[in-house]
Amino acid sequence: MHDIEAARPLSSNRNGKLVGSTNVPGDKSISHRSLMFGAIADGRTVISGLLEGEDVLSTANAMSALGAVVEKINGDYIVDGVGNGGFRQPEDALDFGNAGTGSRLCMGLVGIYPFKSKFVGDASLSSRPMGRVLTPLTKFGVQILDQQNGKMPIILRGPDLAYGISYEPPMASAQVKSCVLLAGLMAAGVTTVVEAVPTRDHTERMLKGFGAKIEIETMSSGATKVHLQGQGRLLPQKIEVPGDPSSAAFIIVAALITPGSDVTIKNVLMNKTRTGLFETLTEMGADLEFSNLRTAGGEDVADIRARHSELRGVVVPATRAASMIDEYPILAIAASFALGETNMLGLEELRVKESDRLATVARGLEANGVECREANDSLSVTGYRQVPGGGTVATNFDHRIAMSFLIMGLASRQPVTIDDARMIATSFPDFVPTLERLGAEFHRLPATN
Ligand code: S3P
Repeated sequence: MHDIEAARPLSSNRNGKLVGSTNVPGDKSISHRSLMFGAIADGRTVISGLLEGEDVLSTANAMSALGAVVEKINGDYIVDGVGNGGFRQPEDALDFGNAGTGSRLCMGLVGIYPFKSKFVGDASLSSRPMGRVLTPLTKFGVQILDQQNGKMPIILRGPDLAYGISYEPPMASAQVKSCVLLAGLMAAGVTTVVEAVPTRDHTERMLKGFGAKIEIETMSSGATKVHLQGQGRLLPQKIEVPGDPSSAAFIIVAALITPGSDVTIKNVLMNKTRTGLFETLTEMGADLEFSNLRTAGGEDVADIRARHSELRGVVVPATRAASMIDEYPILAIAASFALGETNMLGLEELRVKESDRLATVARGLEANGVECREANDSLSVTGYRQVPGGGTVATNFDHRIAMSFLIMGLASRQPVTIDDARMIATSFPDFVPTLERLGAEFHRLPATN
């Protein structure tokens, strides 16, 4: 849809401090998985706080097309599941829009079925590599009936009977791990995924909550082995989706770089596989306060208070990349306002996100007068605490690029313009009004073709 509609440019400018308290929408990773696992549980799963972003709604539509019943009743999402193994062949292609997570996880969840399933997406998703999930799926006996050089549109057909596999993804990717585990739900025997660097563990935690037989072994090296017994029954759950730390990140950085700011974000997921940005910002001198620490639905959550801070550049080690993989664009903005160089290492996976995020961030920084150095798998940003701004950023259909540079404009000398704000709706539909309530100012510019 976004490919043919007119782009919507938007700019942000300095408008004084940001103050107040807010919530952020539900975590995207947990939202996708809640719908998928609800769809294959035996009975009714109730989800409160689901992220109603376009990415997650694409997953909801896919689950309906496969036979689950998904309804919104009194603000909650109700999923009547078909039981593990109970999907019916979808009549049309499953369209995942911009969503890498929805599509890659469903290629495992659905592609393993002994019927034809077709996976399509928008221009950005259709340019992203899917070979990383197709390779392990072929080990289960899944046939690839159509593909475009490892990209979408893709048609899969699973074997009559699949057997569990053991797989070590060559890259740190929760999507690849999850794709394999979800295919393993339909396979006879045990499926094992080995991760040299552990990535976000929502699939493991949530499958356990749904009653799957899953065990996690942690090696002395820190590597993990996840073992899943296939063909088990999943029991429906009541799920409260906590606030998305990747969305909270934009508001936190906005408060840190805007003089006089004092903002609290309530009910944010604090899972350790997701909190690398908070660690990095703290090392940079950020005034962050975590309060009301508690567990909700099997996950740690907290309220986070962020106040304007004089940030300093740091080295962000490659070993931390997995725990903040979606946060580098907004970290680059924080780094632009920090004193000295911030050197971010181990960023090879950023090349294959919704855009080539390393290049897109670097071009956006340059357009706004920030000095940076882009290498194959690293980015270094030289900050002066004053950012000129005044540039227009090519967002390349990437929601996190759009939001990051709008945050830059709240504190730079001149306004910052992004070429297209539409993709923000994929993960944080209320981004603009949420920030406006805290004191931010945005200007809509005429639509372009
Ligand atoms: C996600 C995994 C990550 C992340 C994405 C969500 C998930 O992708 O970037 O936004 O929910 O499993 P990769 O597996 O490609 O690193």
